Amino acid sequence: MASLPISDSNFTLGQAPLFGDPAISADRTFHAYVHIPFCRVRCGYCDFNTYTATELRGSSQAGLASVLQREIAFAKTELETQGFAPLRPATSVFFGGGTPTQLPASDLATILRDLRTTFGFASDAEITTEANPDNVDIEYLSALQKAGFTRVSFGMQSAVAEVLATLERSHQPANVPAALAAAKKVGLQNSVDLIYGAPGETLQQWRTSLEAAIEMQPDHISAYSLIVEPGTKLARQIARGELPEPDEDLQADKYELADELLSAAGYQWYEVSNWSRSVETRSVHNLAYWRSQDWWGFGPGAHSHIGETRWWNAKHPATYQKALSASDLDQTLVNSPAVGSERIDSKTRWIEKLLLEARIADGLSIADVKVANSEANRVISQLIADKLIDAALALRGRIVLTLQGRLLADYVVRELLG
Ligand SMILES: C[S@@+](CC[C@H](N)C(=O)[O-])C[C@H]1O[C@@H](n2cnc3c(N)ncnc32)[C@H](O)[C@@H]1O
Ligand code: SF4
Repeated sequence: MASLPISDSNFTLGQAPLFGDPAISADRTFHAYVHIPFCRVRCGYCDFNTYTATELRGSSQAGLASVLQREIAFAKTELETQGFAPLRPATSVFFGGGTPTQLPASDLATILRDLRTTFGFASDAEITTEANPDNVDIEYLSALQKAGFTRVSFGMQSAVAEVLATLERSHQPANVPAALAAAKKVGLQNSVDLIYGAPGETLQQWRTSLEAAIEMQPDHISAYSLIVEPGTKLARQIARGELPEPDEDLQADKYELADELLSAAGYQWYEVSNWSRSVETRSVHNLAYWRSQDWWGFGPGAHSHIGETRWWNAKHPATYQKALSASDLDQTLVNSPAVGSERIDSKTRWIEKLLLEARIADGLSIADVKVANSEANRVISQLIADKLIDAALALRGRIVLTLQGRLLADYVVRELLG
């Protein structure tokens, strides 16, 4: 991943970034992301901003909820001060990690209550938490549902014990159906994440995982191609030759198999890596990212996007907590935990819109592509000839990826941008 600028002309350490012209946000929805950066153990492939108990440098899991409450109060003041009031109620909230369910359900409930009282929630707001399949039970999930959560997303990854072991997951295959059944029983919408391409995983093992996921009938399934992130234990194991590198052709076969089995079971793709049983069970929160809406990311390392600005918080929970410590003189004064920001000019905004919307099933309007690319007609004809975008939908003015196009989504987007 490209390194991010630490600061720019729009940014002063300790102060809130400037969001720019409120008119930009007038027709955007508002969303909240809450990052809980804790895991019991780190999986070998994962480079998310997460810490085990021995890596907390004096900060604590127990203290995070109250620090998050300070950032929530800080966000309200800043949004009001910078003309982004009246605040729009949040259309979705997403607790991600790390593992949010490392915290007691009462902590998640406290944070959620604070968000609700501060911003208000739309009547049909989607409120999700991620969870590890082996660290929740029915009492925990029931407490979340009572607190207002509507949805839970489990990191299933695979149904094959051997593959879970290669990924260094802490759970066993049997944990997932038990957790999913509990989520359904308490009335939570539900989703599972799968990963394909663990070193040594065969096509048959991937089929087993897909069939196991389908058999549980979750509302939503995400299937991610394993990314070998630099600096992870997995990357070192591959570099030392202890594990084989994922094979690109086999990865493509696995994606095709996923789409075949999921479609046959009634799941429709709505983003390259995401399938849902109905339009109603698509992830509102993820669609908000892909449609460049406004969101405030609370917590260590969280990224935010409001108005013309994107910014990101200090990554380590101890640094994050320090920034949000109240001033001795005035307990209501706290510093912004942001450590960098960037202004998104209109050209960048346009490019990002094309990049993100090309990956969703609703697709892009051809008229929008023509604004960015004077060669659009020629490029689109070629993409149709190569069967990478849907010919019939293109005639109706939309660019929507075909199955082959989804496999080459990055190439298609580069061509469209010119
Ligand atoms: C924050 S985790 C989900 C919640 C929980 N921590 C868990 O793992 O069960 C988010 C998801 O990102 C995906 N993920 C993480 N690292 C990945 C990688 N290197 N390549 C592909 N997917 C990855 C996994 O599918 C994981 O479920
Ligand atoms: S995949 Fe989930 S459980 Fe594993 S280290 Fe990453 S955030 Fe933690």
